[in-house]
Amino acid sequence: MNSNPPQADPANQFAPDDLYGFPHYMLKEIHEQPQAVQTCLARYFPKSSAAVTPPILTNLNEVHILACGTSYHAGLIAQYWIEQLVGLPVRIRSGSEFQAAPLPMTANTLTVGITQSGETADTLNAIALDKQRRLAQAAAFQPRLLGITNQSASSLSKLVDSTLPTLAGAEIGVAATKTFVNQLIVCFYLTLELALGCQAILPEKIQAYWTELSRLPAKIRAVLALETQIKNIAQELVNQQHCIVLGRGVNRAIALEGALKLKETTYLHAEGYSAGEFMHGPIALLDAHVPVIAIAPTDSTHTAMVANLRQVKSHDSPMIGILTDDAPPETAALFDHALMLPAIAHPLFPILSVIPLQLLAYHIAVQRGLNVDKPRNITKTLSE
Ligand code: G6P
Repeated sequence: MNSNPPQADPANQFAPDDLYGFPHYMLKEIHEQPQAVQTCLARYFPKSSAAVTPPILTNLNEVHILACGTSYHAGLIAQYWIEQLVGLPVRIRSGSEFQAAPLPMTANTLTVGITQSGETADTLNAIALDKQRRLAQAAAFQPRLLGITNQSASSLSKLVDSTLPTLAGAEIGVAATKTFVNQLIVCFYLTLELALGCQAILPEKIQAYWTELSRLPAKIRAVLALETQIKNIAQELVNQQHCIVLGRGVNRAIALEGALKLKETTYLHAEGYSAGEFMHGPIALLDAHVPVIAIAPTDSTHTAMVANLRQVKSHDSPMIGILTDDAPPETAALFDHALMLPAIAHPLFPILSVIPLQLLAYHIAVQRGLNVDKPRNITKTLSE
């Protein structure tokens, strides 16, 4: 981590007001993701690294994450990565719930605030409250505050000890797309820093992740190349009232994020679930008018996912799969539409699997004639 003052985001990385021929900012920003990720990787994973873990990240007992909306979903993925790859306990709370239900004030705890705008009042208030209560405590409980934001000069940066900028460039569309993907890159960087700090991952494994990360821009381009297929799926879903998105493990958070993207831009009633939990009641919702989108990469969750999906299929729901290109043919055969994404080290799949859901939300919204860049009732930053 850079313990120097954060650099300003590169001013003209993308000219924010120019649509470059795209019909909407949301679509332009979805297509900027390979470049945005490349910029972020160059900053956080340079070719040579001194690999010195800064003091704020050493001798930790726990990590706490505070965020709202899409940033909360990035926090859920960070929670999975830090718990599963580093072995550190992570608690996450929505900023809007922190005052009513503060997290326990544990010792040697890193508190991470994630907000693309750096101005979301619920998130800022939660961090300020945590800081205030900790300042009155003994040394082990003192605040260690880290911010992850796309706005280096934001209120968040003034509140925390250290800021990690997400370097996605300006995002004008209200629905977060490239800022979310870059939050994930920074969260993965944080995960590897924590792993280095407590020697939780072998250096060869870290090297293998670096190699995978360096291939991400090309793999994101391969996902964007599925747009015509996704546009056709959008045509089939445009008149639906409901939609279910399922994921397991690290992709559960992408099911939640995909459903949020659909709600925000299309006003479709979409719900994201853990595929396993979906069997415990919500499956009663299914019939031929409730499409199900399943994120089902060929990883350790695959067998359980396929078992869930066989049950889903028996209720006549139209089925759309977000799979990896190494999927067994019998898995692909479960779906009316199977989107084949490039295979990747399984913890990193969320960085790819969210993109078809962004494109699907965009194309359904446009086909419904909605204002996709400025959806009703929501604002980019909820600062009051
Ligand atoms: C608003 C937006 C959401 C966004 C949330 C968090 O509610 O409508 O789309 O995810 O704020 O924004 P932040 O800037 O904190 O990431």
